[in-house]
Amino acid sequence: MSGATGPSLQLRDDGRLRHLLTLAGLPRANLVELLDAAAVLRGDAAGRAALRGTLAGRTVCTLFFEPSTRTRSSFQLAAMRLGADAVNFDFALSSAKKGETALDTMRNLEAMGVDCFVVRHSDNGMVARLAAAARPGTAFVNAGDGQSSHPTQGLLDMLTLRAHKGADFSALRVLIVGDVRHSRVARSDLQALRALGAGEIRVCAPAPLLPGESELQGCRVFDSFDAAIEGVDAVLMLRLQRERMEEGLVPSLEQYFADYGLDARRLERAAPDAIVMHPGPMNRGVEIDDDVADGPQSVILDQVANGVAVRMAVLRAVLAE
Ligand code: CP
Repeated sequence: MSGATGPSLQLRDDGRLRHLLTLAGLPRANLVELLDAAAVLRGDAAGRAALRGTLAGRTVCTLFFEPSTRTRSSFQLAAMRLGADAVNFDFALSSAKKGETALDTMRNLEAMGVDCFVVRHSDNGMVARLAAAARPGTAFVNAGDGQSSHPTQGLLDMLTLRAHKGADFSALRVLIVGDVRHSRVARSDLQALRALGAGEIRVCAPAPLLPGESELQGCRVFDSFDAAIEGVDAVLMLRLQRERMEEGLVPSLEQYFADYGLDARRLERAAPDAIVMHPGPMNRGVEIDDDVADGPQSVILDQVANGVAVRMAVLRAVLAE
C-alpha cells in the first residue's frame, strides 16, 4: 500500500473534500463549512427532510475492525437518512477472522459497489492507506484509527461547543482532561480547537498520560485538576483507554478518580455555566461521577445527537458529485 498521508490525500484540486481522514491540516474553511452544514441539519427538520434521498443509489459501508456504539450507528443512520444504501461489515462474523487482510476486505466490498467506506481500525494511518489503495472515486471517512485521529468526533465536539457557547471561540477556555496520550479524540479536538481559534486550551493529565510536547503546543498543561478547571467554560473528559495502555500507567482506578475524576465538587470550580462533555463510552466512577454525567451541565447526549448531523454533512461532502 502507498504511504500517502491523510492531509495530502483528502482534498481535491479544487479544495473540496475527497475523503475525511484527519483534521490535521484541514483548512479552516472546510471545517467551518462542515460545521455550518451540520448545524442546519441538526436544527432544521425541514432542511433534513429536503435532503432525504440526496444520496439515493450510493452505497456506504461501515467497515469497523474495532468496537463502536455511537460512531457506527450514527454513520448508518446518517447514510439512511440521506437515502443511501448502508452496509455494515460485522468484524466478528467476517472473513477477517480467517486472516483476510483489511486491504483485501476493502477491495472485495468495493467490487460489490461500495462508494464510501467509513473505517475504524486499531492501526494509525490505516484509513489513509486503504484510501490510497482504492479505486479513484471511492470515498473514505476515518471513524477512528489507532491513537491518531477521530475527525468526526472532533467535528461533533466543535458543533456541540458552538451550539452552547457560540461560534466565536476566541474567548473560550476549554479544558481536556485524562488519557490524552492514548486518545485519538483528544488529538482531533486539539486540532479543531486550534483551527477555530479557541482562546485558551488547557490540558490536564498525570505525566504518563500526556502526549509528547509537540502535540501540546499552545496548550496550558496542568497536573492538578483542581487548578486546571478553575473558571473554564467547557470540560472535555476523556475515557481511560485501558485497552491501549501498558500496565502501571495509573496507580489504581480509585486513585485516578480521586486525582482526575470529575465530580460535582470539582465542577463548582469551573465557570457557573460551564458544560461537561465526554465522547463516550464513559467509565463511570473512573473518570466521571454519575451526578455530573447525568447532571444539568452535561451535554454528553447532545454530542451524540450532533454526531448524526455531522456525519450526514460529511457523507454529503465526500459523496458530492
Ligand atoms: N465516541 C466514540 O467513538 O464512541 P464509539 O466508540 O461508541 O463509536
